[in-house]
Amino acid sequence: KGDPRLEAISAAIRVVPDFPKKGIMFQDITTLLLDHKAFKHTIDIFVERYKDMQISAVAGKPLFLQCFVIKVLHANDCLCIGVEARGFMFGPSIALAIGAKFVPLRKPGKLPGKVISESYELEYGHDRLEMHVDAVEPRERVIIIDDLVATGGTLSAAISLMESQGAEVVECACVIGLPEVKGQHKLEGKPLYVLVEPS
Ligand code: PRP
Repeated sequence: KGDPRLEAISAAIRVVPDFPKKGIMFQDITTLLLDHKAFKHTIDIFVERYKDMQISAVAGKPLFLQCFVIKVLHANDCLCIGVEARGFMFGPSIALAIGAKFVPLRKPGKLPGKVISESYELEYGHDRLEMHVDAVEPRERVIIIDDLVATGGTLSAAISLMESQGAEVVECACVIGLPEVKGQHKLEGKPLYVLVEPS
């Protein structure tokens, strides 16, 4: 807060009323991507936050599906996880800049390898996110990136996927947080970092 770059980011997000259905004020980040300065500010803020994360060797924690792997984590040895589709527009740039690998979480049926999946509730019905089982290792520290958090259902599914593999979710990061929905209450106690909240 108080960072002048946040105003530029807010201003670059187009709000489209009644999309995809009546009553929804759609937060369109494609206009943020068109604005080089604001897009760069967005990536820079996340990179500044995550580049020097203090990550040390992580002590024992029950592991789930995989065998025991002993790994000493280096300062930048963290992972950046992006959620389809709009999380893919921010995650890889952040991952490259902080020296982390990027792991895409995809909608069902898109990944060719062995996957694990997690269902989550939508306003009407439900959807599923999938991840390659070999994409993360136990004890790896991850941040999960998406464009927007509303109910928090999508991020919660992403957290469950990571934790089922024994990875540790350090934080969830979104460009936009819808304050009225209080998505952070659903994130299994994980911290949520958002850049802007629509007024
Ligand atoms: C949107 C958005 C988030 C999710 C947030 O994705 O990009 O991923 O909704 O909502 P929640 O906090 O209530 O779960 P959408 O499902 O529309 O998919 P898309 O990014 O593939 O368009």
